[in-house]
Amino acid sequence: MTVPYSPEDREKVVAKLPVPLRRELKVRAAELGIDIQEAVTEGVTAWLDLQDHAAVDTSGGSSFSTYLPAGLYEKLKGACKPRKISYNQGMAQSIRSWLDAHPSPRPTPPRTTGARRLVFGNQKGGVGKTSVSAGVAQALAETGKRTLLIDFDPQGHLTRQLGYEMLDIESPSLAKHMLADAEGDLQALLVPIKGGDFEDCLWLLPACKDAFLLDAKLATTRAVRIKETALERVLAGLEQEFEFIVVDCPPSLGYTMDTALYYGRTREGEEPGQSGIVIPVQAEDTSGDAYDMLAEQMDDLCEDLKVEIQTLGFVVNLYDARNGYIATSSLESWQSMDEPVLGIVPELKEQREAVRRKEPLLAYEPDCEQANVLRSIARRFQG
Ligand SMILES: Nc1ncnc2c1ncn2[C@@H]1O[C@H](COP(=O)(O)OP(=O)(O)O)[C@@H](O)[C@H]1O
Ligand SMILES: [Mg+2]
Repeated sequence: MTVPYSPEDREKVVAKLPVPLRRELKVRAAELGIDIQEAVTEGVTAWLDLQDHAAVDTSGGSSFSTYLPAGLYEKLKGACKPRKISYNQGMAQSIRSWLDAHPSPRPTPPRTTGARRLVFGNQKGGVGKTSVSAGVAQALAETGKRTLLIDFDPQGHLTRQLGYEMLDIESPSLAKHMLADAEGDLQALLVPIKGGDFEDCLWLLPACKDAFLLDAKLATTRAVRIKETALERVLAGLEQEFEFIVVDCPPSLGYTMDTALYYGRTREGEEPGQSGIVIPVQAEDTSGDAYDMLAEQMDDLCEDLKVEIQTLGFVVNLYDARNGYIATSSLESWQSMDEPVLGIVPELKEQREAVRRKEPLLAYEPDCEQANVLRSIARRFQG
């Protein structure tokens, strides 16, 4: 249905809606490839003409905001009065009616190749591996995909940014499991990430400082092929629990990185593009040199082990066109690569503020521009 309003002329509307309804809206909009604001616009427009409006349970609502064509919310408010319902109830009914009119496409068949694996890597520090991987994982989980974030960097930035402590050096950890030096179940180490619309769908495997020794220990291990397969072996048991496993890699190119690259390979029977490596970069000159080294390591690994590792694309992070020619020309060179630029994340204060507050970005500032770019990147993995 086309909407009889100019898409440019929109106003922000805030309503209190229950989390399950908001999540259903996000999931359905993503499934159908429709913008949430378009879905709500269609819902409100249709609801205004609707004769039959069943009440929707709006208890336990939390703040939801979207942009509607100017004047539409006033019309909704005008229609709520004679119907003797609150504006929140009007919005909830509009969204419910849109959901009922737009059923989910058929469910996808169960996967036989395990969870989809997204490995965020670049040996350069500070380019946004942690912020982009965390944001994409939050965006995937917002649409109802059960997602596991792995903090694979012994510095533990991801763990701490999400408000958790790193695992105690003596306690079981991912690295100890990889080196067959831990008792118990890896699943027991997972912690839930709470706060946003992704709640109940997002978990973290926290980092432990012992991972600083992982490279050296993998180098001296004598077991055949353990170097590359160690990560896959320990995560295999978790793959039935999750649709996506997102790995935030350390800024290095050692054996630890090899295990992560191997984990992101295209498995037998897996469609190309389902799993692979995502490379956060910056629009400046040294990022290109760093990428060449990573690409070389990937080529070597593919050749040695006869596997295929797909680069799913680049995310150009910390982008600020005010940096002039260096930024714009570097961006063009990323865009001219064989692999796509999946998104351009602007340098804006919200990301740093979320880190400072130890909150996930999509919970701290769910409507900011960065959050929306991260959602659009996540949508590219949901085909
Ligand atoms: N788009 C952005 N806008 C503003 N600050 C950002 C952005 N992306 C990352 N940052 C900040 O830059 C720093 C480095 O980012 P981080 O994700 O930790 O990089 P990496 O994991 O590659 O080392 C962090 O303080 C982070 O908050
Ligand atoms: Mg990091």
